[in-house]
Amino acid sequence: MFTRTHTCGELRASHIGQTVRLNGWVNSYRDHGNLIFIDLRDRYGVTQLVFDTDDAKNAGAADAGDKHAHTGMMGAADKLRNEDVISVEGTVRIRSGGENPKLDTGKVEVVVTSLVLLNKTENPPFLPDVIGTLPNEEVRLKYRYIDLRRPAMQKIVSTRSKALQSVRKYFVDANMFTEVETPVLYKSTPEGAREFLVPCRNVPGSFYALPQSPQLFKQILMVSGCDRYLQICRCFRDEDPRADRQAEFTQIDLEMSFVRREHIMTMMEGFVRHFWKDMLGYDVPPMQRMTYRNAMETYGIDRPDTRYGLHITDISEIAAKTDFKVFRDALAKGADRPRFNSKRGVVKAIRVPGGAEKLTRKITDGYSDLAKRFGAGGVATAKYIADPAGAKFDTGCAKFLEPIKAELVAALGLEPGDTLLFIADTYSVATKAIGELRQQVARDTNVVPKPGAEGGPWNFLWVIDFPMFEKNKDTGKWIAMHHPFTAPRDDQRDLFVSASVDDDDTIESIVSAGYDIVLNGSEIAGGSVRIHDRDVQSKVFQLLGLTPEQAKEKFSFLLEALSFGAPPHAGIAFGFDRLIMHICGTDNIRDVIAFPKTQVGADLMTRAPSAATPAQLKDLFIASTWTPEPSKA
Ligand code: AMO
Repeated sequence: MFTRTHTCGELRASHIGQTVRLNGWVNSYRDHGNLIFIDLRDRYGVTQLVFDTDDAKNAGAADAGDKHAHTGMMGAADKLRNEDVISVEGTVRIRSGGENPKLDTGKVEVVVTSLVLLNKTENPPFLPDVIGTLPNEEVRLKYRYIDLRRPAMQKIVSTRSKALQSVRKYFVDANMFTEVETPVLYKSTPEGAREFLVPCRNVPGSFYALPQSPQLFKQILMVSGCDRYLQICRCFRDEDPRADRQAEFTQIDLEMSFVRREHIMTMMEGFVRHFWKDMLGYDVPPMQRMTYRNAMETYGIDRPDTRYGLHITDISEIAAKTDFKVFRDALAKGADRPRFNSKRGVVKAIRVPGGAEKLTRKITDGYSDLAKRFGAGGVATAKYIADPAGAKFDTGCAKFLEPIKAELVAALGLEPGDTLLFIADTYSVATKAIGELRQQVARDTNVVPKPGAEGGPWNFLWVIDFPMFEKNKDTGKWIAMHHPFTAPRDDQRDLFVSASVDDDDTIESIVSAGYDIVLNGSEIAGGSVRIHDRDVQSKVFQLLGLTPEQAKEKFSFLLEALSFGAPPHAGIAFGFDRLIMHICGTDNIRDVIAFPKTQVGADLMTRAPSAATPAQLKDLFIASTWTPEPSKA
């Protein structure tokens, strides 16, 4: 039989002399004439096998090194090809060609006395030991089982498994959380994304929705007395996948009763510290906090990457003192966020240290296109250069900047050799566009550290004090910034109670008890203190434009539950895939999911999604309105 005695990563000098059996895949094959070497691979490592018995050679048919058809063990080995699955028995001996320090098993080799070919492979589309360039991702995803044989992928798969244990260690073993599974066939919840629907055969015309998150179930579990809930759960959002986003992803979903914001933040910070220590041996320092407002003002985004500076400065006051048309037109624009003191448009600037040299004309020309993609008119650029008569702006708009030079130098800490980038528009447009610009400038000037499993730096950040509501740009209606079950911050209750449906200024100014955890510019967790009072919840629905009937129709179960003894509660969910991306040092979410989907949501291996048969559709009372596009041929 082929029961192994050791794995391919296990043998050391201490095993010399032992008879062992190993199983695995042929990783490489080298015929030295009188010896054949095979590297045998499994998920634990690689061991060198030696085949040295050649009956023909032993019978004197040929001298060592002569070309002849091998027989005996060497003959059997000779037929093997990369990725064949074999089982071997043999004796461990010191590695004849000297130690290979790159392998854990590099001190030894196994002289094979028996070989069983367990399965012969077809010629594989690529080899898992490829060094350097990988085949393109489509090929990797189509033959995912081969891709997963690569040691780098094996490492990620086992890191992910270890991470799951680590999560449970902290929450279940050390902090009394209970794991509860909630349904996957669910009802719509307004988490913001489009939902996947599942037709229900027994109730023709009705559908389940796959959960975007188990948000309402976990809150209801608190009403049930569950007290501390954990679920490592699959969530489904029908949105376009991105580098850090999949339509099907995993959350570490958490909820606690009888807590306010500080309690839950302390518990979750404890988890982050435990997890990074457990996974990487890294001690996370106390996490910084930043308000949403500060994040938007200084970084132009609510998940700032604080590993580098390139801070944004609002120079509207200074810009108002010059006659530059770009500034003047923007400042004359109306207010789109009155709460943020922008009674007029704004001018925002970034100082790029050394930008005069680092940012070529071609690069800065591209910045205007980037800004336009986010709704702004463009980017004004000004190099600030040394000059015998005193540093000066060297650019088309220099003459407009000259009168405000001293103030710009003081406000931005400008030094000769820097470049200034300006975006002038309404508050929301300028903030978003310059936030995106800041990230692009960081990439262009190489100030973003590469993700590195061991290295960091790890800049963990709590972002707090989000507005409760924001206006949907397309519909003009208020929507919840986190989700509609998020409570106002404790000190905002009176303001919240006073808000009436048509009082936009007040609605906009209410601060929520929500919080996100951001790591190096990526949102790794989001949560909030919840509403546990039925009247408060009803008022939120009202401000969001739901009639009492609509609220009842959609959420009567929640409103009822809140009226039957709901304790104060709060929760959060970590994006598990994103945590693993950070731990493994990859910026592609597909690398950390065993069977991910492509940009268009396809599983290239199984070819999902696929058409349903007419019989299936009939069973479900579904008729498709889709007609294939006429062929262009
Ligand atoms: P939220 O929508 O912020 O909150 O999600 C929580 C975390 O899940 C991760 N995440 C994703 N990861 C990969 N692909 C996606 N498409 C994706 N979408 C989100 C992010 C995010 O921070 N029910 C609330 C949580 C709560 O309030 O307790 C929720 O789902 O890391």
